[in-house]
Amino acid sequence: MAYVSLCPAHAIQEGEMGLFQAGKKSVLLVWPTGGEIKAYRGRCPHADAPLTDATFDGKVVACPHHSWGFDCATGKCVTHLVRNALHPYPLQIEDGAILVDVGPLKPPRGSA
Ligand code: FES
Repeated sequence: MAYVSLCPAHAIQEGEMGLFQAGKKSVLLVWPTGGEIKAYRGRCPHADAPLTDATFDGKVVACPHHSWGFDCATGKCVTHLVRNALHPYPLQIEDGAILVDVGPLKPPRGSA
């Protein structure tokens, strides 16, 4: 496992979500109300669309493309009878930073 620093721990508050970048990979951080912070791949498992404009009600992440909803605690789809689920990434909080393991990283395009 190779954890990389994603953002400061204060970048997200309980009941919020946010998209962050780890190299070329987009990471969705969600902190469910009354739960623990989770990290998922920042793309919808339905049609691999970006979750950039997704909404979050404190429990369910709703994809803007076809309105599928995902339980942020488990990643499972809760609006359709499908097995599709958000892809989880391991997450740690250390020294005031949120670290995730997204697998091998490539640098973002344009950086050298
Ligand atoms: S791409 Fe997200 S619901 Fe279809």
